[in-house]
Amino acid sequence: MTEHTPNLKAAKITGGVATDQRHDSAHKHVAGTAVYIDDMPEPAGTLHVGLGLSNVAHGTLKNVDLSEVRSAPGVVDVLTYADVPGENDVSPSGMHDDPVFAQGKVQFHGQPIFAVVAETREQARRAARLAKIEYEELPAIISIWDLDTEKDKQVASPLTLTRGDAAAAIAAAPRRVKGRMKLGGQDHFYLEGQISLAVPGEDDEVTVYCSTQGPSETQHLVAHVLGVPSHAVTVEVRRMGGGFGGKETQANQCAAIAAIAAKKHKRAVKVRLDRDEDMTATGKRHDFAIDYEVGFDDEGNILGVDYIFALNAGFSADLSGPVGDRALFHCDNTYFYPNVHAKSAPLYTNTVSNTAFRGFGGPQGMVGAERVIDEVAFAVGKDSLEIRKLNFYDPMGAPGDRNLTPYHQKVEDCIIQRIVAELEESADYARRRREIAAFNNNSRFIKRGMALTPVKFGISFTKTESNQAGALVHVYADGSVHMNHGGTEMGQGLHLKVAQVVAEEFQIDLDRVKITATTTAKVPNTAPTAASSGADLNGMAAQDAARQIRKRLAAFAAEKYQVPTDQVVFLPNRVRVGNQEISFNDLVKQAYLNRIQLSAAGFYKTPKIHWDRAKGRGHAFYYFAYGAACSEVSVDTLTGEYVVERADILHDTGRSLNRAIDIGQVEGGFIQGMGWLTTEELWWDGKGRLRTHAPSTYKIPLASDRPKIFNVALTDWSEAYEPTIHRSKAVGEPPLPHGMSVLHALSDAVASVADHKICPRLDAPATPERVLMAIERLRAEAAPKK
Ligand code: MTE
Ligand code: HPA
Repeated sequence: MTEHTPNLKAAKITGGVATDQRHDSAHKHVAGTAVYIDDMPEPAGTLHVGLGLSNVAHGTLKNVDLSEVRSAPGVVDVLTYADVPGENDVSPSGMHDDPVFAQGKVQFHGQPIFAVVAETREQARRAARLAKIEYEELPAIISIWDLDTEKDKQVASPLTLTRGDAAAAIAAAPRRVKGRMKLGGQDHFYLEGQISLAVPGEDDEVTVYCSTQGPSETQHLVAHVLGVPSHAVTVEVRRMGGGFGGKETQANQCAAIAAIAAKKHKRAVKVRLDRDEDMTATGKRHDFAIDYEVGFDDEGNILGVDYIFALNAGFSADLSGPVGDRALFHCDNTYFYPNVHAKSAPLYTNTVSNTAFRGFGGPQGMVGAERVIDEVAFAVGKDSLEIRKLNFYDPMGAPGDRNLTPYHQKVEDCIIQRIVAELEESADYARRRREIAAFNNNSRFIKRGMALTPVKFGISFTKTESNQAGALVHVYADGSVHMNHGGTEMGQGLHLKVAQVVAEEFQIDLDRVKITATTTAKVPNTAPTAASSGADLNGMAAQDAARQIRKRLAAFAAEKYQVPTDQVVFLPNRVRVGNQEISFNDLVKQAYLNRIQLSAAGFYKTPKIHWDRAKGRGHAFYYFAYGAACSEVSVDTLTGEYVVERADILHDTGRSLNRAIDIGQVEGGFIQGMGWLTTEELWWDGKGRLRTHAPSTYKIPLASDRPKIFNVALTDWSEAYEPTIHRSKAVGEPPLPHGMSVLHALSDAVASVADHKICPRLDAPATPERVLMAIERLRAEAAPKK
C-alpha cells in the first residue's frame, strides 16, 4: 500500500475504449501464424471428406450407384441421408427444407447428395467423382426475372409495409415514373472457405471446431442431426478467415457432416470445401428484381412510392424471409415517403439457397431507393444530390413530422444533413461537378461521372430473441483477466473491442486481458455474430460481467480498509482506497485469499425494440447508423471500362470504441459494396450451373481497383442517441452500401452521352459490358429520330 499522491498526472491505461488499437491478431494475420481450423494439428487418425454434388438443377434421384466410390483407394465410408442418425435437416428457419444430403430429389445444381469419408482429402475427392447417378430431370426455375410475385412459389411469407395511400398519392401526383431494376447477387469470397473439424468424445459427446458465425445455432443443428441433446455438442471457433454473413447459417451443413462421420467412426473428421465447391454449394447474397413506381411534384418532392422487392431465395427458405424484410426496412434509405406501399417476395428457384450477406437485404432496399431518386432527378432535370436533400427525413431535434418510416418507427436520430453537408465541403463537390461538366464537354471518348449517396442503416436483429448476449469474465489470482463472450471473430476486431471494454472497466492495460476462443461450453444460447451487433451486444454483456467483479472487489476493499465504497476508485492499474493506493494485482490477490468470487457471467438484452410483422409496425431498430460517400469515375465510352478516380466517405460510428478498426471496416465495406455493384457477376447457365465459381471468372475488387484517391473519415462529433456501449455505434454492415456511390457515378458518366436528359437505368453489377450497353442504348435513344 502506498500513500495516494493527489496531483499525479492524469495517467491512462493502455488500450481502453475510444483509443486506436491495431487488431489483436494483426501481426499473426500477416505473419501467417494466426491459427485457423486448417492450421490446427490434426488428431491422430483424422479422416477427410469429399462431397458428391448434384449434376442437375432439379430432378428425382432414380438410381444412386456408389459402389465404385466405396471401393476406391482410401475410402472408409460413404454417407447418404440414410446415415443421418437424427433428422436430415439443417434448416435455420425451422421450415425443414434444408436437407444435409438430398433425399429422393435434388433442387439445385451442386446440392450435396453424399459424402465420401477417406484417409486423405485427395482420396475422398477423387472417389466422389466415381458415383453413377441417374436423375429424372424436372423443369427448373433458374432466374426470378420472369416470375410472378403473386402466383409463383415463395419460400417464406412475404411482408407488406404500408403508410398512407401510395396508390392514390401516385395517381394524383403531377408526375409519375415506373420502372424495374435488376440487381445481382454476390459471393462472400471469404479467404477461408467453409470448414469443420469434428472430434468425438465419450458417450454422445462431440466437439466441432467450426468456422461459423453462429456457434449456438451450429451446436443446435448438429445435435438435431445427431439426435442428441445440445449438451453433448460443443462448438468452438477462435477466428474465421472472413464470414461476411456466409457463415451465419451456411457453416452448419459441413459441421453436421463432420459430426455424423466422427460419431459413426469414432475418429476425428475434417470437412473443408475447396473454392469451386464452396461457391457452387453454398448460398450467396440474394439477387433482386425491384419494381417501383413513384409520384412526385415538379420540384422533385416524392409524394408516394410503391415497391415490389422480389428476391431469389433459391431452393429453400434459409434466411430469405428476414432478408426480404430488411430490404423493405431500408427501401426508404434516408428519405421520408409521405405515402408508401412496399412488398417483398422471396421466390423459390432451383439455385443454391441464398443467405445472409453483409447488409442482409438492407443494401438492396437502399439501391431501390436511390434508383427512385435518380428517376425523379432526371425527370425534373436536377442534380440527384438536390433531390436527395429535398427528401431527407427531418434532422434530429427538428419540430417537423417528416420522420416516420414505412414501418411506423420514428427516426429520432437523423444526422444525414450534417454528414452530407460536411462531405460536400470536404470532397469539394460543387467545384468538381463544374470541372467534370467541362471535362466531358472537351473529351470525346472518356467521360467522367460523380455521385454522392447517403446511407441510413437500422441496428438490431428484427428477430427479437436474437438481441441478447452473454459473457464470462474470470479474474485470476495474479490479476490477469480471461474474457469470453458469445460473439465470434471474423476479422472485424470484435474481440479487441470487447477486451477494450473489459480493460476500461477494471482500469487495467489491455494486455492484461486475454482474448479466448468462442465456445458454446462457456457462453450458451448466443445469437450469431451478425446484424453488426457484435460489439453492441457482447460489449455490454462483458461490461456487465466485469462490473459485477469490480463491485465485489470494491466492497471487499472498503470492508478491509474500513472506508465507504465510494472511496474505492479504480485508477489505471491501481485502486485508490480512501487515501491509499494498492495495485490492482495486489487487491485481486488479497480478494482471492479472502475467498471473494472473481468470476462472473454477464448478460445484456437490447431495450426498447419490438416488431409486429403481421401489422408491419414497430420499433424495429434501437438506433440508426449514418454515412455518405462521394465517388468519381472515368469511363471509356468505347469499351465500357472504367476506373474509380476518387472516393470520399464520411461515416458515423458514434463515439467509436476504436477508430483504427472502424476506419478499416468502412474502407472494407465500401470496397465490398463497390465489388458487388460493379464487377462481381454470378452467372448461371440455362441448366442452372453456376459458371462463375472461381476467381478466374468471378471478379472481386483487386488492390489495383481501389479508388486512386481514397479519403475515409469518421464523424468526430456524433454519439449514439441511445445508451449503447460507451455511446458507440455498430459499424460492420452500414458502410457496405457506400458502394452505391460508384454505381451512381457510373450512371452519371453514362448519362453524359445523352446530355443528362435520360435516366440510364443502369442495372447492377454494372460490369464494363453493361456500362457499354447502357451507353449505346442512351446514344440510340438520344439520336434524332428519322
Ligand atoms: N469484417 C471482416 N474483416 N470480416 C468479416 O467477415 N463481416 C461483416 C462485418 N465486417 C466481416 C467484417 C459482417 S457481415 C458483419 S454482420 C459484422 O462484421 C459482424 O461483426 P460485428 O457485429 O462485430 O460488427
Ligand atoms: N444482418 C442484418 N440483420 C440480420 C442478420 C445480418 O447478418 N442476420 C439476421 N438478421
